Amino acid sequence: MSTTGVSAKVTLGEKTAEFPLLTGTLGQDVLDIRRIAADLDVFTFDPGYGETAACESKITFIDGEKGVLLHRGYPIEQLAERATFPEVAYLLLYGELPDKAKSAEFEQVIKSHTLLHEQIRNFFNGFRRDAHPMAIMCGTVGGLSAFYHDGIDISNEASRELSALRLIAKIPTIAAWAYKYTVGEPFVYPRNDLTYAENFLSMMFAKPSEPYVVNPVLARAMDRILILHADHEQNASTSTVRLAGSTGANPFACIAAGIAALWGPAHGGANEAVLKMLAEIGHRDNIPAFIEKVKDKNSGVRLMGFGHRVYKNFDPRAKIMQATCHEVLNELGIKDDPLLDLAVELERIAVEDEYFVKRKLYPNVDFYSGIILKAMGIPTSMFTVLFAVARTTGWISQWKEMIEEPGQRIGRPRQLYTGSPRRDIPASL
Ligand code: ACO
Repeated sequence: MSTTGVSAKVTLGEKTAEFPLLTGTLGQDVLDIRRIAADLDVFTFDPGYGETAACESKITFIDGEKGVLLHRGYPIEQLAERATFPEVAYLLLYGELPDKAKSAEFEQVIKSHTLLHEQIRNFFNGFRRDAHPMAIMCGTVGGLSAFYHDGIDISNEASRELSALRLIAKIPTIAAWAYKYTVGEPFVYPRNDLTYAENFLSMMFAKPSEPYVVNPVLARAMDRILILHADHEQNASTSTVRLAGSTGANPFACIAAGIAALWGPAHGGANEAVLKMLAEIGHRDNIPAFIEKVKDKNSGVRLMGFGHRVYKNFDPRAKIMQATCHEVLNELGIKDDPLLDLAVELERIAVEDEYFVKRKLYPNVDFYSGIILKAMGIPTSMFTVLFAVARTTGWISQWKEMIEEPGQRIGRPRQLYTGSPRRDIPASL
């Protein structure tokens, strides 16, 4: 970052302070208010952090007004078309796309870490069979910190890198086993002859009793879904990982914190919520009444898969997801899918409706991802888990960047206290 030479002069009563305007490579300039408490004796109030840049980052850039998403400068459309998910993971971690040799070497390193310690198998048995797989993910990924703690030195670059590689490699195994556990099927071990996406599908769907051949169209779609969810700047779960990491906590525990934050329906749980919503609507005749309910502020109902904190034009990932959705449904011979029909009709009505147009609410990445995943045979409860598998690369890249930042300090927001003033406990109590 650099200064623009421009500053904002703020006068508060007797005091005056100047705050410099900083500029990055792209995007809006930011007002540097780091000295506001020292100079003016006040804090800023910004619930939800919508107006606050909490860190400097070189990983991902989003222009919500123009519908642009760049990872290390590369547009998401090009990455989804021309790169594989491990290549995108490499890009996020190291800053450059790998050449063919580096890409093969990276995949090989990832493959050498896909197995879980056999003791981790026992973790699964501690959960109820009907546990939500995100609960199993939170517990088991957090549990990894018990296996990788004493040997981890986050001040050491090689140690940080090893933690990142272990997480990227092991997360699909944990995710697939969470699924296998809840359906009562035997765990399927990772296969090093398969790609990252193929291996995930194999661990999800293979059974020891019969051969399993991965469908290349579905593997490519899975790879693309992973790419589209790999990172998204300082969203709620990434900020959670950074905040947890800022205390110097174990990186596996930090990723478990990110998984917890991702779980909510306003964030990663939205694709699951989209399918539930479509099932609830049931028939296209019920769409107008549903839309009316969404527009009624007292109903508490939102159109799931619509709207985004940052994208106020369109979500570029949603376009790619829509195309992938058609590829998958074609490949699987699914014609006239009632859910897809409903989704298309809902989108058509919503994008023309003044309520949504006025508020710049467009379909987000989750609107179509749920339909693709359902068509692939992935149960609804696993949708957010898949998101966590992909986002682990973004989380750990952001965690690494934060730890490596000179002068990195603990994250500690302030508050506007509105509780009781000081009082004494009455003698009668
Ligand atoms: N349906 C109906 N109305 C909506 C929706 C929606 N999905 N989203 C926003 N609005 C309305 C709000 O009621 C508000 O209206 P008002 O100005 O009349 O009060 C206005 O649009 C602005 O909404 P905010 O809540 O201030 O927008 P914010 O940026 O905070 O919320 C969010 C973004 C949480 C994603 C929201 O749009 C939402 O809840 N969407 C549905 C859930 C969803 O799809 N989440 C996935 C996000 S993408 C991701 O995590 C990968």
